[in-house]
Amino acid sequence: MDSFELNKIAGAVLFAVLVVFGVKELGSAIYHTEEADPQAYAIDVPEEGAPAATEEPEEQGPSLAELLADADPASGEKVAKRCAACHTFEEGGANRIGPNLYGVVGRAIASHEGFSYSDALQGLEGDWTFAKLDHFVEKPSDFAPGTNMAFAGLRKGSDRADLLAYLNSLGSNQPYPEVEAAPAEEAAPAAEEAPAEEEAPAAEEEAEQAG
Ligand code: HEC
Repeated sequence: MDSFELNKIAGAVLFAVLVVFGVKELGSAIYHTEEADPQAYAIDVPEEGAPAATEEPEEQGPSLAELLADADPASGEKVAKRCAACHTFEEGGANRIGPNLYGVVGRAIASHEGFSYSDALQGLEGDWTFAKLDHFVEKPSDFAPGTNMAFAGLRKGSDRADLLAYLNSLGSNQPYPEVEAAPAEEAAPAAEEAPAEEEAPAAEEEAEQAG
């Protein structure tokens, strides 16, 4: 009798455990479906926000001309330490792994005496302008695919502008490119100011009357 009742209790306990476990399973199944909904919304939100967020920085990023206008040669001299393993900067300095860079701004590309350049660099025509140097230093392998300059590049635009200002101070002294964006923005307020000019003669008349 005792063992039969024990069996019944054990059976009841087992049943209870199964029920509790079953409810938990059911519960988690419900939670899973509830979690799926917020995920569906989460995908919608970035899709709407993303294009605007990526467009703005690209349009508003300062141009090379603007960066150069604010560039600091002294900061550029510090940036140039990253090049010093391969380049010298002083007038008449030696070629190392890379050519001497004194006066490189405005110099013909791949033209330094006594340095044997890669075909990649020799194949480029023209002089080193600020724009070309900026591009080359940002990513050498992009500006001159196949170049021997094993340098990953300087990602920060203001670092490159400082560096170019420093390079330019080394015997080059080329004029900076002109900042173009500003005049277009100033044109709009000028039209609004026009009525103010009409008021000006009146003020002069008053002055004449007074005087
Ligand atoms: C690991 C060595 C190395 C580093 C670091 C390096 N360069 Fe160079 N650089 C070279 C080599 C090699 C060349 C020649 C490339 C060729 O012939 O393809 C070169 C070429 C150049 C040229 C072309 C010069 C000419 O006469 O046409 C410029 C400009 C230049 N480097 C600037 C820089 C600047 C600025 C830095 C630092 C931000 C730098 N390099 C860092 C190795 C280096």
